Amino acid sequence: MLSIENLHVFYGKVPAIKGLSLKVERGQIVTLLGANGTGKTTVLSTISGFLPAAKGIITYNNQTINHLRADKIVRMGLVQVSQNRDLFPDLSVYDNLFLGGILQKNSKSLSEAFDRVYEYFPILKKRKRQNAGSLSGGEQQMLAIGRALMSDPEFILLDEPTTGLAPLVVKNISEIIKTIRDEGITILWVEQNAVGAVSMADYLYILRDGKVVYEGGPGDLPANKKDFFRQYYI
Ligand SMILES: Nc1ncnc2c1ncn2[C@@H]1O[C@H](COP(=O)(O)OP(=O)(O)OP(=O)(O)O)[C@@H](O)[C@H]1O
Ligand SMILES: [Mg+2]
Repeated sequence: MLSIENLHVFYGKVPAIKGLSLKVERGQIVTLLGANGTGKTTVLSTISGFLPAAKGIITYNNQTINHLRADKIVRMGLVQVSQNRDLFPDLSVYDNLFLGGILQKNSKSLSEAFDRVYEYFPILKKRKRQNAGSLSGGEQQMLAIGRALMSDPEFILLDEPTTGLAPLVVKNISEIIKTIRDEGITILWVEQNAVGAVSMADYLYILRDGKVVYEGGPGDLPANKKDFFRQYYI
């Protein structure tokens, strides 16, 4: 569904992604792991059209999307949930979700999108009149994912959705991500915390210094995962 071949991305003259290739099959959760500063966010933002690819090809549903504008890519059903969540803290939960749904064609499809998001995240319904800025970290992450779901995406890019959250909240959000996958949405999930993300992955890549240094299914990993990941500082 998504394929990246030999991607190179620069910040000015400084290379951040140095010949990265990866694939995501429809209906999968693919996890992209890597330590701090290895280029995970850069990959996602390039897929979304926020950063230009200096070299390489990104195809989505058999169409090259490298040179498309970010809004065009969202209209194709590919939505990024950014690492800093990018919520509007002074707007209500409802209004944040509403803004995620602006591409909905009519009030019926908009209201169905709200119902679906509230079903995934009942707490957001409870808090719908509260300002986004007053939510807990976990609730804000739920709102960021919920807002992405408001446009009925086919494919979601998740940038460290569980970092900095309490273990119970991590478990809750991870399970919801799995449910979202089971309902047919394809997911590219970026994390630093290897163990949690790997347990949900259909396939995984490890990134180091802007390149893929390992790929495989969860079953291909050695028994001692901790030591295995430690060599990549994750
Ligand atoms: N706006 C920018 N300008 C210049 N360099 C940048 C910029 N954003 C990122 N970089 C650099 O590009 C490299 C990759 O950064 P990126 O944010 O993609 O890493 P990351 O894997 O997402 O890290 P983290 O786990 O901390 O979120 C790093 O060396 C970083 O310093
Ligand atoms: Mg990042």
